[in-house]
Amino acid sequence: MHGSLHPKSIVILDYGGQYAHLIASRVRRFGVFTDIREPETPIEDLRGAAGIILSGGPQSVYDKGSPQADPKIFELGIPVLGICYGLHWMTQTLGGEVSQGKVKEYGRTAIRTVEGGGTLLQDCGAGCTVWMSHGDEAVRLPEGFTQIATSDACENAAFADEKRNFFAIQFHPEVTHSEHGQDILRRFTERCDAAPWSVESYAKEISEQILTEVGDRKVFMLVSGGVDSSVAFTLLNQVLGTERVQGLLVDTGLMRKDEVLLIEKAFAKLGITNLRIENASEEFFANLREVYDPEEKRRIIGDTFLSVQKRVSEEMGLSMQDGWMLGQGTIYPDTIETGATKHADKIKTHHNRVEAVQKMIEAGLVLEPLKDLYKDEVRALGEELGLPHEFVWRHPFPGPGLGVRILCGKEASLPEGDYEIHVDHAAFPIRSVGVQGDGRSYRHAVALFRTQPTKVTEDMLELATKIPNATQLYNRVLLCTSHAAAMPFVFNAGYITKERADLLREADAIADDEMKKAGLYETIWQFPVVLLPFGTTQGGESVVLRPIESIDAMSANAVALPSEVLQKMTERIMNLDGIDLVFLDLTNKPPGTIEWE
Ligand code: XMP
Repeated sequence: MHGSLHPKSIVILDYGGQYAHLIASRVRRFGVFTDIREPETPIEDLRGAAGIILSGGPQSVYDKGSPQADPKIFELGIPVLGICYGLHWMTQTLGGEVSQGKVKEYGRTAIRTVEGGGTLLQDCGAGCTVWMSHGDEAVRLPEGFTQIATSDACENAAFADEKRNFFAIQFHPEVTHSEHGQDILRRFTERCDAAPWSVESYAKEISEQILTEVGDRKVFMLVSGGVDSSVAFTLLNQVLGTERVQGLLVDTGLMRKDEVLLIEKAFAKLGITNLRIENASEEFFANLREVYDPEEKRRIIGDTFLSVQKRVSEEMGLSMQDGWMLGQGTIYPDTIETGATKHADKIKTHHNRVEAVQKMIEAGLVLEPLKDLYKDEVRALGEELGLPHEFVWRHPFPGPGLGVRILCGKEASLPEGDYEIHVDHAAFPIRSVGVQGDGRSYRHAVALFRTQPTKVTEDMLELATKIPNATQLYNRVLLCTSHAAAMPFVFNAGYITKERADLLREADAIADDEMKKAGLYETIWQFPVVLLPFGTTQGGESVVLRPIESIDAMSANAVALPSEVLQKMTERIMNLDGIDLVFLDLTNKPPGTIEWE
């Protein structure tokens, strides 16, 4: 959260909720640059901003040590919007009164506009449905403010001082559950005297920055095959020329089917041939031999990656002391730690910025040309640079690749006890990661069996919410799509091997193909396919289909695939040698996570 402010941008002061990135990315779609900063940012650093949005946060303004911004922000003469905690802090700071709410209000709520809703709520008609999540509320407005909306549980649901351009809303316009949320943010943005901004204008600006930062050095880049590093690599090639850039793609053996080929082709079309492809799969499989623990797997994959990279770059005569910089495809949410990402880190370790890289950043040896962009902006930039549409709009894929989708186990583990479910069901002999409340869970999954195995019904989806809430035994609920009745599962100890990776690659390619044929690629946000070390026979395995809808991966809904699609996928996957069972994961996030480990 440092560096000088982009002139005439809108600043979001992040009070630690999970919403700062959502606000920032939404406002950018109105053609204005946004910057997320800590609430304690000194006032001097905020001069030149076009407007300030105070985000929500988990605390009460009455909590000891609750986050505070500098009250002088109200003297900058620019529009300020307070959302939820931002509203409370604004109310208290400007002389109004906040009370600790007796009734906590969560979820969808109806608001009624007052006096046409003022500037902000003018598109909401007489009222609309919004997303509330608060305990405290403003009970007396500061001087100069008038109410613009009210709700049954919260008298002052929104208020404004139109003269000074100060606005306060108790609900969350940034989440999609709030009707007219976009309109509200747009109306605020229109009130700010912000400089126009677009991905195209950014590309020009960043090109100049790259030239300055690199000087007469060269850039070495690790290309993972994902969208971010591919776009960054293309950009560097176009700005610096192919002579001054070198790429390395480490094939871990854990990539998707034909992925390396797809990447090579996309680059070749643009005349980019300076990508060395190093097949290190044997080294990865050797290091992962007899490794069963999920975190241990992640660590080994990360370490192997670093050691291959080091070896190959030495072989190629690249040394950072020798006029080379390291390029990275880091994007904005990875560089800005909001309350949410801090929290997310506790749930799973992401090896985005390891210590060694952090040191290099401090020494000015790292170039991150996409560090101010959100994913959708990176994609737009990729297309602008000439990468194919299907290539830049690929679903997200985790760094450790299929490594986190091949579940391993040395011995069967079963839940102690069972939970009464009114249909035929069976617990899995393995556990998977989930997220509930503030923490990580590592529990069993339970599968439902039905006479019509590929038909997802409303009551199953209800069970998928109800069961993990009601018992500590299970954090996931699935539907078995290959069998109508439960049978004993046969556990088959397994770690990551080439054979298992190949098998999962085939199943994954089938799911991908059928999803695309059914025209579902755009509605589904990500579709992990997971391999489980048990089946109905000795040596057999199971496949889990995990299609989800999401906006930002923080929360996700399971997608109930249409019956005919599910049937086709199941049939084709069941035809693979070694697959005994197929399941569809019905669990939302929370309580499940998108990946299984
Ligand atoms: P979860 O499973 O936490 O996943 O709901 C959220 C999103 O993050 C991706 N993911 C990862 N990406 N390295 C990555 O680059 C990782 O270790 C990793 N773990 C999860 C996941 O695919 C989903 O989009």
